[in-house]
Amino acid sequence: MTTPQTLLQRIDTVQQEALASLNSLCNVEEVEEWRVAHLGRRGALTLALRDIGGLPAEDRPEAGTAGNRAKLALEDGLGQKLETLRESEAARLASENRLDVTLPGRPMLQGRLHPTSQIVRQICDAFASMGFQVVEGPEIEWDHYNFELLNIPRDHPARDMWNTLWIDQRNEAGEYPMLLRTHTSPMQARVMESRQPPVRVIVPGKCYRYEATDATHEWHFYQVEGLAVDDGITFADLKGTLYEFARMLFGAERKVRFRCDYFPFVEPGVDMSIDCFACNGDRAGCRICRDTGWIEIMGAGMVHPRVLEGVGYDSSKYTGFAFGLGPERIAMLKYGIDDIRHFYANDLRFLRQF
Ligand code: DAH
Repeated sequence: MTTPQTLLQRIDTVQQEALASLNSLCNVEEVEEWRVAHLGRRGALTLALRDIGGLPAEDRPEAGTAGNRAKLALEDGLGQKLETLRESEAARLASENRLDVTLPGRPMLQGRLHPTSQIVRQICDAFASMGFQVVEGPEIEWDHYNFELLNIPRDHPARDMWNTLWIDQRNEAGEYPMLLRTHTSPMQARVMESRQPPVRVIVPGKCYRYEATDATHEWHFYQVEGLAVDDGITFADLKGTLYEFARMLFGAERKVRFRCDYFPFVEPGVDMSIDCFACNGDRAGCRICRDTGWIEIMGAGMVHPRVLEGVGYDSSKYTGFAFGLGPERIAMLKYGIDDIRHFYANDLRFLRQF
């Protein structure tokens, strides 16, 4: 026969023993067994609480209060025990530097070439297939190569065509002889100085100008220079070579147009355009060719005799042609990019598109 005293006693004992045994448990599985043994449907405390119903009505409240308190104490102890186990497990993993194979894997990012590099390679490949050799030159250049040997003497108004960044270092005469090259053309002179004709080179590289930036101007940008010098080279060679290049890069159906232009290091000088591949001559409202049907893609010309003489070539024996183009401009046209500053912003949302 259950009396209030024995039941209170029993609840107290269950609580004491349960809390005492909790300490010795080592893992989550043991804690779960403990929970079933005390708080489960047939657990010691659950059975004791069930017996409260058998007590006389006036004794039930006291036993009920004691039972609830015991239940809360066990649940509390259970929660704390689980927390302690979690902490020590985490500490153990950290100290053993264990690999957690359940963590999600790190994504493998796939790199790619910058759009400028891609276009520079396409341009170089096109000329390489016609026998041109790829060479590179210094970005810090002497005035001598950047201007003088290209028939742009000191105080010549043609210097105004290039906004120059000078290196802050004077020579004995008090002049600034070094600059960040404003174009890749100085490599014409460097190459010719170092070898005899036949010369066929293509020169990709970075150039700099003292320039306010906007959608079509950067203070640094790329150029690709080309030079061919030999006995008997004519303007027909220039046209044929550049026409072939335009077809390789912009499609076999391209037409080209040459118009007179002025560059001090060539005579005659031209600018070369291709017919607009975006509107195919429809023109009306075309953003790419601005309704003209033509897109200028490079400057070119027959190497000026003074440039040949300047490097010690006999200009009565040798002739040649030269050209220069901006790969960013080519990429902007080809891919419909509306701002040159994208090329240098390092924004992956832009770069991933190429
Ligand atoms: N160097 C010129 C520039 O920066 C581009 C150029 C034009 C290069 C005509 C050439 C050429 O070789 O023949 O604007």
